[in-house]
Amino acid sequence: MRMRNYLMAAVATGALVLPLPALAGGKVEVLHWWTSGGEAKAVGELKKSFEAEGGTWIDSPIAGGGGDAAMTALRARVVGGNPPAAVQLKGPGIQEWARQGALADVEDVATAERWDDELPPVLAEIMKYEGKYVAAPVNIHRVDWMWVNPEVLGKVDAEIPTTWDEFNAVADKLMAAGITPLAHGGQPWQDATVFETVVLGLGGPDFYRKALVELDQEALTSDTMVKVFNQMRQLRGYVDPGFSGRDWNLATSMVMNGEAAFQIMGDWAKGEFLAAGKVPGKDFLCIPTPGNGFLLNSDSFTFFKVADPDEVEGQKLLAKLIMSPDFQKTFNMAKGSIPARTDVSLDGFDECAVKSHEDLQRATADNSLLPSMAHEMAVPRTVRGEFLDAVTNFFNSDQSSEDAVKQLAAAVQRAG
Ligand code: GAL
Repeated sequence: MRMRNYLMAAVATGALVLPLPALAGGKVEVLHWWTSGGEAKAVGELKKSFEAEGGTWIDSPIAGGGGDAAMTALRARVVGGNPPAAVQLKGPGIQEWARQGALADVEDVATAERWDDELPPVLAEIMKYEGKYVAAPVNIHRVDWMWVNPEVLGKVDAEIPTTWDEFNAVADKLMAAGITPLAHGGQPWQDATVFETVVLGLGGPDFYRKALVELDQEALTSDTMVKVFNQMRQLRGYVDPGFSGRDWNLATSMVMNGEAAFQIMGDWAKGEFLAAGKVPGKDFLCIPTPGNGFLLNSDSFTFFKVADPDEVEGQKLLAKLIMSPDFQKTFNMAKGSIPARTDVSLDGFDECAVKSHEDLQRATADNSLLPSMAHEMAVPRTVRGEFLDAVTNFFNSDQSSEDAVKQLAAAVQRAG
């Protein structure tokens, strides 16, 4: 490092006219959508570790929860022939870009660091294209959570609901007391996040798999799916008048500030509570949404083909750091998720992380571990887009559940 400073100073003063050597750690431009309080803190940890190893980090944040805006920006960059070196991108999206020949592999790092031994096979498979790692996973997020303000619930003397019927009963009580039951942001990905937890809760894991992963028409047009939309209609009655377009982290603040009792959101919401100094089990509760299973969402960084050797170097350093046990711990304690590596201990993690881990193990054993549709783990983007449109359209209109089911099933069939 000192050597580099000396060289730079020498060049600047004209004492030495030599091309500068490549930076020790290389450089990466990182495109991501982590801009909320908890998210920014977590990605800041990655930047810090990268710079500590001598790398140059070029930050390209594209605000917008769920990443839809970031994915649009990415497409424009790739089409323009100028892709960022590393992109927060996940699930089948990785394979889609790989098939287009846009990705670079980091197989040498993965082999040297024995990633195959440290990752759950379900994640390893998502990160590889034609047997080679093209992405590195940072975490395991769980989607099917309710974030609860216990003090607000106490005002109506209500218990934690364990079925959707119980949820409705508690919400009715809160309404009667003039309290907003559900903090929600009316954006398509947030509507879909709530929707998939209801699919899991009312239909069970096998139904979820059939409808949202296998896109089975029978499941999509079933009475169960009508019931799911009925429950969505019910939930629409539990949000406040200002819900439309609200960002997810502002909905989290409503629970934090006692303006609402519940938020249904993945555990990145916990990152917000923690960043605000709130204590799990005391200031807020993390309770799985009614039902049985585990909706998986794993963030990863995917490496795009870049020509600059400094950037290739940077990609390797980033890949190595992302998978290092220390980083996986620090990052996930801030992000609200649990490590993607199976060998990182949960010492120091909070009770929500411990519960997530236990439920993940159980879900793996009883085959109720399911990929999130809303968070791009289950189906191609085009199909996910149809789900988002249908659910949002329903949520913001007076469409009947029967019509919504017909419309959704037809749209999915066309797109799939
Ligand atoms: C998810 C992503 C999370 C979180 C969330 C809200 O799709 O996996 O890490 O950032 O969006 O932005």
